[in-house]
Amino acid sequence: MSNLGFENTDTFLLETRVFPPSPSTVENANITAYMKSKGFDDYDAFYKWSLENRFEFWDDMAKELHWFEPWQKTFEWTEKPFFKWFLGGKFNITYNCLDRHMQTSTRSKVAFHWEGDDGSNRTLTYEDLYILTNRMAKGLQNLGVKKGDRVAIYLPAVPEQVVALLAVARLGAVHTVIFGGFASNSLRDRINDAEAKVLITADGNYRGGKLIELKKLADEAIKETPTIEKSIVVRRLGSDVNMQAGRDIYLDDLLADIPEDTFVPCEPVDSEDPLYILYTSGSTGKPKGIQHVQGGHAVGVYATTKFVFDIKPDDVYWCTADIGWVTGHSYIVYGPLMNGATSVLFEGVPTYPQPDRFWSIVEKFKVSILYTSPTAIRGLMRFGEEWPKKHDISSLRILGSVGEPINPEAWIWYRHNIGHDELPIMDTWWQTETGMILISPTVVIPLKPGSASRPLPTIEADVVDKNGVSVGSEKGGFLIIRHPWPAQMRTIYKDPDRYVQTYWNVIPDVYFAGDAATKDKDGYFRIQGRVDDVIKVSGHRLGSMEIESSLVSHPAVAEAAAIGKPDPLKGEHVKVFVILKQGFEPSEAMEKELKLHVRTTVGALAVPDELEFAPSLPKTRSGKIMRRVIRARELGEPVGDTSTLDG
Ligand code: PRX
Repeated sequence: MSNLGFENTDTFLLETRVFPPSPSTVENANITAYMKSKGFDDYDAFYKWSLENRFEFWDDMAKELHWFEPWQKTFEWTEKPFFKWFLGGKFNITYNCLDRHMQTSTRSKVAFHWEGDDGSNRTLTYEDLYILTNRMAKGLQNLGVKKGDRVAIYLPAVPEQVVALLAVARLGAVHTVIFGGFASNSLRDRINDAEAKVLITADGNYRGGKLIELKKLADEAIKETPTIEKSIVVRRLGSDVNMQAGRDIYLDDLLADIPEDTFVPCEPVDSEDPLYILYTSGSTGKPKGIQHVQGGHAVGVYATTKFVFDIKPDDVYWCTADIGWVTGHSYIVYGPLMNGATSVLFEGVPTYPQPDRFWSIVEKFKVSILYTSPTAIRGLMRFGEEWPKKHDISSLRILGSVGEPINPEAWIWYRHNIGHDELPIMDTWWQTETGMILISPTVVIPLKPGSASRPLPTIEADVVDKNGVSVGSEKGGFLIIRHPWPAQMRTIYKDPDRYVQTYWNVIPDVYFAGDAATKDKDGYFRIQGRVDDVIKVSGHRLGSMEIESSLVSHPAVAEAAAIGKPDPLKGEHVKVFVILKQGFEPSEAMEKELKLHVRTTVGALAVPDELEFAPSLPKTRSGKIMRRVIRARELGEPVGDTSTLDG
């Protein structure tokens, strides 16, 4: 655990106001209805009950979904740390997102209002989505995809991206979505680790007006992915792209002979069968394939969507994340669809063509629930309040935030300018690994700016020291969760040992989140950031090692170290220190070339803002670069224990 750099016990309390919930919101909230059904008026008493009766709570949630065969046992934790939820149940998440709604009025309800980067629109009802999903599932079947096969998805935010996930899950196959901002090497490595059989991509797309040649990047990647047999290409631009005969097929052509009334039954999979693998960055080595299951994952995501965002039949919900990240999986695709919600799906960026893009979309579709990121808020703050003022955004009733700590200043701006000083902000803490939101307000509790507030019902979170002992209020420590929850990851794909080591063996028998936090006397958590070598740039999760590996793959680089530095806009930005090989000289041209190299190998999101040529780097005696020391020196903080430092 030598790389746990967190030793700080100070807390930061910049904003001490507490914002109580509005009585009418409380009265009508989904969580209030559930509390009442259990005989509670008081949230604290309800939360306490939920800890003691977690299986009753989750059974209740699971019963609101459709099961081909009910589960026989709610939970089992006999082979610790591995656990199971809803044992013996037969389930399909796509059935719960689509088929179930075909028997109700939701059938004709809008599932997605889609808006393209260029302002074009498409509207898809639940029935439209159902038809397209069945056809795509048939197309995948025709290409030989069956239960358990992995399908890679590398698409922009178009409706076909949602349909691709649902079609794969329908067959009981396993999707692995790769964020469209990743470059070909990252795509290649993820496809190879997942051993995907089929890739679904697009000819290209525009983001913020910039052309992204997705098919070119995909072609580059699949030169070195022996498992890919077929590649399906969605026509987003309609431009001519290279199509390799026998391997590549346009989606239109694949579906041409598949009629609208095609029905592909949902595969009734076991609750614990895999739904997806999503790669995320860790401390060391290659990205981890976080594996989630069908049953418990669905139950957790369904319930948290219902309670945190308080979704009602008339709401228009918009999560601005990308489906390439976990937020999009849980809270664009599965959670809202299982709840029968109407959502907005947006392909573009907040500031294109102008900084009022978000507010124009809110106005156009009468968005009532907006879930976005602190980086987006801070970015829009820069342009001033006149931009939201140009639009009627009075349809909004609940706001949300995710991905990184929201600083109190941004929180207050969001509440004041977007929330008319009234709307509750759900600052939701969770991770790719947790699958669902774990620490977050619901609309019934008071809010404290900059705090993700309290653990959701049944979730037992704490702040502890290295030995797992609670540190008490207002003290810094490690964020842990004491008992498994249904949507929790089950393993790292093909690497169960790493799963055990990373999450369960750091502090014995509890889930180690990798974040530092404090808890106040009211049980409100403040998340302070990662304690490992994960860097959060604009909420995107990057590993120091990924950036360093990219740099050392350049012929001029001998060694490299990447750290995250506080950034007023992005939360953190990347700074790299580079030692050049003999015969290469530092120069501006070299700096540019190395940045470009990171862009073309990892992706634009990983490009360092700062690059410093260094003569040497601090290392342990065993030769490991001490990023913690580099970071402390860079930030002018105490360097801490350097007893293992070489020289
Ligand atoms: O450091 C925490 C930060 O994001 C990490 C998880 O990143 P990822 O797996 O990419 O998932 C992001 C979206 C769920 C966490 O370990 N984080 C996430 N939400 C918050 C947060 N930090 C502070 N406040 C949050 N609300």
